[in-house]
Amino acid sequence: MRLLLLLPLVAASLSLTEGVMVCYFGSWAVYRQGLGKFDVEDIDPKICTHIIFGFAGLAHDSSIRVLDPWNELCDNYGKCAYDRFTALKQQNANLKAILAVGGWNEGSPKYSKMAADPVLRNRFITSSIELLKKHGFDGLDMDWEYPTQRGGSPDDYDNFVILMAELNQALHAEGMLLTAAVSAGKATIDPAYNVPELSKSLDLINVMTYDLHGAWDDYTHHQSGLYAHPLDEGDNASLNVDFAISYWIEKRARPGQIALGIPLYGRCWTLASQQETGYYAPAHQPGAAGDWTRSPGMLGYNEICYMQTTQEWTVVDDPAMNEPYTYYFPMNNIWCSYDHAASVAIKAEYAKSKGLAGTMVWSVETDDFRGLCHNRKYHLIKTMVEVFGGGSITEPPPLPTTTRDPNEPTTTTRAPPPPGVHCTQPGLNPDPLDCTHYYLCSLNTSGGYNEKEEVCPEGTLYNPQSYYCDWASSVCHLGEDVCPNDC
Ligand SMILES: *[C@@H]1O[C@H](CO)[C@@H](O)[C@H](O)[C@H]1NC(C)=O
Ligand SMILES: *[C@@H]1O[C@H](CO)[C@@H](O)[C@H](O)[C@H]1NC(C)=O
Repeated sequence: MRLLLLLPLVAASLSLTEGVMVCYFGSWAVYRQGLGKFDVEDIDPKICTHIIFGFAGLAHDSSIRVLDPWNELCDNYGKCAYDRFTALKQQNANLKAILAVGGWNEGSPKYSKMAADPVLRNRFITSSIELLKKHGFDGLDMDWEYPTQRGGSPDDYDNFVILMAELNQALHAEGMLLTAAVSAGKATIDPAYNVPELSKSLDLINVMTYDLHGAWDDYTHHQSGLYAHPLDEGDNASLNVDFAISYWIEKRARPGQIALGIPLYGRCWTLASQQETGYYAPAHQPGAAGDWTRSPGMLGYNEICYMQTTQEWTVVDDPAMNEPYTYYFPMNNIWCSYDHAASVAIKAEYAKSKGLAGTMVWSVETDDFRGLCHNRKYHLIKTMVEVFGGGSITEPPPLPTTTRDPNEPTTTTRAPPPPGVHCTQPGLNPDPLDCTHYYLCSLNTSGGYNEKEEVCPEGTLYNPQSYYCDWASSVCHLGEDVCPNDC
């Protein structure tokens, strides 16, 4: 009887589970302005199989470190982003929520020091597992950029293998996953990674097949071309997706553990001349920054496609390449290589033809997540999921809570924890009748919630929409329903 009830749920999730869709989230997008602002709840948990929170860092003593405690934790009126992120699993029972440690800004020396010392490795591993468990994560994503590079040591080649093997053992003992984001450049892969050994420890290898060209080159090119451009010579001929994936496989990574990285942003230059607008055009400056991402040399796909809806950007589908580029002289001669729906479809098809695990994106907050350019939200991610899965997206099952047969006994081991008196989800919970305080809720080991009352400071009220205590006048401005008794 129970089995029969479960069958339709399993069938409904097939198109997603056929491949992985690894969705990185750059948590600082919460500080963006206007339509570019992106918070945890803007993630669509139904179109990803893995969501990865970027980033945690490393403390001086080699324990894992929360980089933005105000945003990530609940303490001191924090915004609880970790708990809200892992709570997205309530909308998709198959979703894995993973915490990434590292990233470009963390550099390499701290990681090099930690990996070289058994005591420090142990401190890193133990503190990581503690943090993951505390916030309900399902695993760790190692984003050391990169072993042996950027101030790392030649010993990193071997120490990274040891670190990953120890992490694998410790995480798997807890039923958690270990994944890693790795370089796609031959010049980094060769010195940094002992591929056959690392492959034994990693559940997923997220190959960062993007940033292969950018404003650090003084000529235009595609940051993530599937294949080489006809003009590529020498090492430039290896700076493409196909080369990187083939190289990882040649070095004996299993195709079935590789996720193909696809950028949801463009890399942009300032053209030196309006007469040369193709590949290898002279360009000595980064492109102007976008209103939302505010980072010279790159634009989110959402920024590019939104500007294209109102301004006359030239879009070129170069017959020599699968990916487009676009330029617009009035914006200081900006030229961007990027990916659109047709090019991500070709990349997803490629991933499937090579027997890869699926696709990965950096990053969800720059897809057309509001549906400003397309008639549906998240057009790029949905396109790759559909192409890789060979069908249209179907709804994955939510957690058993909402689908349980009313006749089924409520004491099954899979049942969700009973809510605490004031807690209905982990993280910050409002009191619907009283905005002068709220509750901090965390799952406890006996399957219930530990709740802690927090009182908002004088003159402020808890805003259930922004998850913090805000000036009473601002909160009351939200409308009569929000805090009926306090406004
Ligand atoms: C890549 O192309 C640029 C521009 O033609 C050239 O200056 C550079 O030397 C090339 N790099 C290699 C390694 O061949
Ligand atoms: C866990 O939560 C439940 C329900 O809120 C509570 O009754 C129980 O005392 C808690 N257990 C621990 C160990 O804190």
